[in-house]
Amino acid sequence: MSAVAINRRFVDRVVLITGGGSGIGEAMALAFSHEGGRIVVVDRDAEGASRVASSIVASGGLAVAETADVALSSDMKRVIDGAVERWGRIDVLCNNAGIGIAAVCHETSESDWDLTMAIDLKGVFLGCKYAIPHMLRQGGGVICNTSSVAGQVGVLNRAAYCSAKAGVLGLTKSIAIDYAGHNIRCNALLPGTVDSPWIGKVLAQQTDPVGERARMEARQPVGRMGRPEEIAQAALYLCSDDASYATGTGLVIDGGLTAR
Ligand SMILES: NC(=O)c1ccc[n+]([C@@H]2O[C@H](COP(=O)([O-])OP(=O)(O)OC[C@H]3O[C@@H](n4cnc5c(N)ncnc54)[C@H](O)[C@@H]3O)[C@@H](O)[C@H]2O)c1
Repeated sequence: MSAVAINRRFVDRVVLITGGGSGIGEAMALAFSHEGGRIVVVDRDAEGASRVASSIVASGGLAVAETADVALSSDMKRVIDGAVERWGRIDVLCNNAGIGIAAVCHETSESDWDLTMAIDLKGVFLGCKYAIPHMLRQGGGVICNTSSVAGQVGVLNRAAYCSAKAGVLGLTKSIAIDYAGHNIRCNALLPGTVDSPWIGKVLAQQTDPVGERARMEARQPVGRMGRPEEIAQAALYLCSDDASYATGTGLVIDGGLTAR
């Protein structure tokens, strides 16, 4: 029987993931844990966060669940300081929680605009704002922000979402250069269409969910949507020492969607 080499790039590293209770964030939590990380699963959905943390613990890993709204400064400070109190440091921050509201610009209500900015952009800012002081004190750290291809190209009917995700890229680059001399790297992930529970909910609202799924898949150059695990693997790379020269970059993982 041949030995299988298992990467253990995050042994004892403290990894905090927002939106860790579902989809891409859940896949990240499991993947970082698989490589030895100590995981803080943050989500406003208490049940989701607790389910993911429990499954990590059940398989022998270390994880805690925290219920928090990324748009609330007090919540983000609490969970980040809490991780440091518990485990002494924060090595990896994945700002991944997000929402998407469908509307063209003139039909976007101000409240939907504000909500999208609060969660998708301010939530990322707050995570960075409260984690960076700890990273400076401990001599370094890594941040991975989940943007989207919608932050780079226009996506129909997603005015606020595209704006917030483009903002995430801008913030990522600004942090990358401001802290490059402090051993803090900051990168963004730009997923294409990923078959998470989010997409399930979008499809469920259609009159013909099965047909719409087929049309969505047909729009992908590779003929299928991405899997959350495929995005998680990119996050692992960006947050690992393998990516020690990568900072300020946006890594597109979209099955070729934006290549044509
Ligand atoms: N699925 C895709 O096609 C796709 C494509 C590009 C980018 N993304 C981005 O990936 C990220 C994860 O999306 P997903 O597809 O896994 O969706 P998902 O809905 O399956 O998971 C998102 C998680 O974020 C949590 N969340 C939402 N608002 C929150 C808040 N205010 N505070 C704390 N937690 C909150 C939700 O409870 C949920 O558990 C999002 O930022 C999304 O914009 C997704």
